[in-house]
Amino acid sequence: MKTYSRLVLFALFARFISGTSAAQDLPAAADLISNYKLHERSIKVVEPHQTSKSRYSYVEYAAVPMDELLFRMFGNEWQSADSQIVFFAKDGYRSAISSAKLTKYRAYLAFARSDTQAFTVDNIEHDQKGIELGPYYLIWANLGVEELITHGAYDWPYQVTRIELQRKNSQDKLRPQNTSEATRIGMLDTEKYCLNCHSIRGIGGQKYPLDLIEASCRWQENALKEWIEAPSVIKPGTVMPALNRMLASEEREQAITHIVNYLSALKNEQPSPCANK
Ligand code: HEC
Repeated sequence: MKTYSRLVLFALFARFISGTSAAQDLPAAADLISNYKLHERSIKVVEPHQTSKSRYSYVEYAAVPMDELLFRMFGNEWQSADSQIVFFAKDGYRSAISSAKLTKYRAYLAFARSDTQAFTVDNIEHDQKGIELGPYYLIWANLGVEELITHGAYDWPYQVTRIELQRKNSQDKLRPQNTSEATRIGMLDTEKYCLNCHSIRGIGGQKYPLDLIEASCRWQENALKEWIEAPSVIKPGTVMPALNRMLASEEREQAITHIVNYLSALKNEQPSPCANK
């Protein structure tokens, strides 16, 4: 039997035993490319971890197209509206990215740099140098795509070892009981800037164990704004990044206000999520 048809059978079987979610451990790059019949590309990006508003850094990575990989792994299902793809990192952290975003923009799974340099990156936000990116690093073809560049390093998970398709990215769970236009914008901003790492009612990433509503219960609104604005001022050495510094400052302030108002709306629901917190 050809490797490919064996794979298809395996994928069907995996889906059968795993019900509504499917997870795939990623093999070494050479195997990934041959098992899934992918073609290696050289993708030049504005490297967001090393880029600030005033200085752009360009890096070229060796990578495979994410959409082709997702089709081979999960079939058409990965594109259904309610899906999210969860990227598991070596240290057990998870980042969640909506299928809608992966469909709208070109993403690639990188496994090396195209030049001979080490597969590492500097993180100017955290003042860290030589962070290992392997085995896999999710990158986006962001050259000339302004909205991707201004979105900074969000949705660029590194040290990825495993990918999972989940079908529960339903916004119903994220919607407050009394939804105004302002809380609706706050919900979208929270998804964009917080839920790749945090989760609310089971939706999102898991870089922090507590549900984001419960975590917010411990914070007054103004203090929470300051935390989102500059976490390392409040807790030096924290790995939580400040909210996207690529945004214009007014836009950034508005996003912070919307997020805090949205979290307050959820905190104030009955029964109170803050009881005993
Ligand atoms: C890149 C991942 C990441 C993103 C994005 C992120 N956080 Fe965090 N957050 C963390 C981590 C990690 C911690 C634990 C930090 C620590 O203890 O040093 C944390 C901690 C927190 C805490 C708890 C602080 C405490 O100890 O009580 C709150 C509240 C919080 N984040 C809110 C937010 C909000 C709101 C957003 C979106 C604007 C956000 N975070 C975006 C990773 C992230």
